Amino acid sequence: MMLKKNPSDKKIVFVDFEPIGRRVEIAIGETLLSAAQSAGVELISICGGVGSCDSCLIRLVDGELSPHTKIEKEVINSEALTKGFRLACQAKPLGNVKVDIPPESLAAPQRLQIEGQYVDVEVNPIVSSIDVQLEAPSLSDLRSDATRLLTAVEEQYGNRLRIYHSVLFDMSKRLRNQGWGARLAVRGSNIVAVLAPETKLLGLAVDIGTTKLAGYLLDLATGETLGMMGAMNPQISYGEDVISRIAYTNDHPEGRATLKAQLIDTLNGMVSDLCSEVNVSSDQIVEVVMVGNTAMHHLAVGLPVRQLAVAPYVSAISESLDLPASQIGLHVSLGASVYLPPNIAGFVGADHVAMILATDVWQTDRITLAIDIGTNSEITLAIGDRLLSCSCASGPAFEGAHIKDGMRAAPGAIERVQIIGDEVRTFTIGAQPPVGICGSGILDAVSEMLKAGLIEGRGALSTDDPRVHGEGAERAFVLAPADQTGHGRDVVINRKDINEIQLAKAAIRTGIDVLLNECGVKYAEVEDFIIAGAFGTYLDIESAVRVGMFPDLPHERFRQVGNAAGTGARQMLVSADRRGTATELVERVEYIELTTHAGFQDEFMKAINF
Ligand code: FES
Repeated sequence: MMLKKNPSDKKIVFVDFEPIGRRVEIAIGETLLSAAQSAGVELISICGGVGSCDSCLIRLVDGELSPHTKIEKEVINSEALTKGFRLACQAKPLGNVKVDIPPESLAAPQRLQIEGQYVDVEVNPIVSSIDVQLEAPSLSDLRSDATRLLTAVEEQYGNRLRIYHSVLFDMSKRLRNQGWGARLAVRGSNIVAVLAPETKLLGLAVDIGTTKLAGYLLDLATGETLGMMGAMNPQISYGEDVISRIAYTNDHPEGRATLKAQLIDTLNGMVSDLCSEVNVSSDQIVEVVMVGNTAMHHLAVGLPVRQLAVAPYVSAISESLDLPASQIGLHVSLGASVYLPPNIAGFVGADHVAMILATDVWQTDRITLAIDIGTNSEITLAIGDRLLSCSCASGPAFEGAHIKDGMRAAPGAIERVQIIGDEVRTFTIGAQPPVGICGSGILDAVSEMLKAGLIEGRGALSTDDPRVHGEGAERAFVLAPADQTGHGRDVVINRKDINEIQLAKAAIRTGIDVLLNECGVKYAEVEDFIIAGAFGTYLDIESAVRVGMFPDLPHERFRQVGNAAGTGARQMLVSADRRGTATELVERVEYIELTTHAGFQDEFMKAINF
């Protein structure tokens, strides 16, 4: 086979990824995972590429790969090995290759929950508009364009403003093209954009989730949401959870820059798509609000994250940040700023602040629990004037990770399960043949198996049901038999999966119990129980109560609110007052560090069993 040489004299090869049809050139010696990352193929790599999971499973279709590593021989069963299945993080092409990515190894397409509540705040954005008309320069009026503009504003509005340096790059051309009339975007005492008369000023709100991104385009004058869009967080190729991504930045000198660049590239794509959809120009976006957990916040603006993963888990900054959008590479108006609200703690970030804001938990007079479930779940208890928050390491099980047949909420994922007598009914996303099971399906499956007596109190699988197969760690209940699945293998729940759910639900329940105990509140006294986030939107409350993740409250007290963090970000985009409220509420929050809390271990052990 003829191989090309690259300028550094390394042999390069082509890798074709199917079924998505993406081709990438890599140097011999690089892994398929690295090839996927270069190609922007969102291959799941839960362990960050160290070979301790099997989420990056691919199948060789054509060409030759490096021999099986010891890790692959341990992780992949012999039948799959003979069929050409390999771990992308271990296998290295020896020449041009074609590989197939099974749906369960591919992060996208995925169902993206971006809708939240209506943005119900009084609109008083930090950037407002004024319209001016200037005299054109002449031989008898040689003032500079900036002086002409600033003088006109002072004469027409009585305000003495300044002008951002970045605005000057295209201001002269714009003023001339616009016949010396302009709509100015003003932030405080600064002109941050010079636009054509009557142009709408727009703002962008972004929720940066560990897994998913949500972007919203708003009219700053009315507060109306003009468009919204979801995307996968591209950093997922470098590690499924925050800890794997921090490890990636620790192990790679350019890791932090790579993760930031990947994120900003995707956000720029989102800006471009949103603007085309709404038929506006990205120059009209004069203000941006970004929320995310503390690690996502730090990675978005290029801050170090190493200290977030080491006790005592402190952030580089907890105060709010206001940065030029151009500094982080966002393709919006040259003078636009990015506002990042304050973080509460190392693992309770501004996304939770936005959620507290959007759900009115900060001003309720009812005893309220508000929870955002993710790899880390953040919980806040509001009681009287107090706000108590904690973060619990619920793990990625509800994202489908660490579960044998787990996958994201993509087509073919089992999302609902019913067990009626001998019959197991499964419902998949997109009504596709099942290829795996996503978070809400896993929760349902465990709940239904408990109801059917297939799981005992400590999590062991029943020994006398014919639908339970295998021995020891392989012991599993078949949800969908091989002849009904999309990949010809059984989709199962095994003992280890049940254990993962036990750990996840116990972590969440412990967080709830510690907060309630701290204030002497009984379950029955909780008047509102708010559940936010994508998984929280789709989970079945009855299942969550049956497995013991949530206390058994009357159903009407639970409220599933969708992406409340995105709604809070939108509120802070159109309301300067809401930014003030965010800062005040962060100062009010009493953060409880669960890992050092006296009652934590006892509560956790109590919550493990069903
Ligand atoms: S085994 Fe490949 S990413 Fe973990």
